[in-house]
Amino acid sequence: MKSKSLRLGVNIDHVATVRQARGGQQPDLLKAAHAAIKGGADILTVHLREDRRHIQDTDVYMLRESIDTPLNLELAATSEMVNIACSLEPWACCLVPERRAEVTTEGGLDVIGLAKQLKPVVEALQDKSIEVSVFLDPDNRQIKVAQELGISTIELHTGNYSLQTSQASISQSLNQLTESANFANQLGMHVHAGHGLNYENVFAVASIEIVEELNIGHSIIAAALFEGLENAVSRMRKKLSAARE
Ligand code: PXP
Repeated sequence: MKSKSLRLGVNIDHVATVRQARGGQQPDLLKAAHAAIKGGADILTVHLREDRRHIQDTDVYMLRESIDTPLNLELAATSEMVNIACSLEPWACCLVPERRAEVTTEGGLDVIGLAKQLKPVVEALQDKSIEVSVFLDPDNRQIKVAQELGISTIELHTGNYSLQTSQASISQSLNQLTESANFANQLGMHVHAGHGLNYENVFAVASIEIVEELNIGHSIIAAALFEGLENAVSRMRKKLSAARE
């Protein structure tokens, strides 16, 4: 299941973060979605958080209706979110852990501890033909349980990798990611990755051939302030393509 091509999911949550700072309509999320697509986004990713700190319910329905590009909805495995996902029917859903006080998603989902709760959630989403992934730390025990739950795809949490500063710890973190990607691949699963990836650290993760999709948000939206969103996405797209040449 090695993949030469690598999809780029652009997470546009932080366009909504800026909008929510004033509660109006600026910046326009749909305009941002079009710019990201023009820059080379294969997927649009949004996280509808329980506290609605950035993306709102109206945003996900608007994107689903207005955009043909596949929509990847990140969500907590709560009944409220699963009901929304089932009515929205996005192309894919990524189940993530959520804590109210966190600044961003801080760790992978504990599928071992939550297996009983996750089973009906996964089934409800799959019944709607939604591709289900789970956001996991590079931990093979978690990956195995995800597979046993009938989940076809994992998104490896690259947050720990992105925080490393020494060459030795970067290499160690990359080895862990590669090893877990291989393990999931051997189980017949698809592998995505994301969190904390930026223009400097993305190449090494994009070079893990088994990885089929990267979801990247903050660094692209930050770069967009200076160079525009279309350029920022296009520059990231080129980094991904270079890693597969
Ligand atoms: N993937 C998942 C599952 C996430 O929760 C996030 C953050 O919303 C991302 C990718 C993107 O992370 P970042 O904004 O750090 O690029």
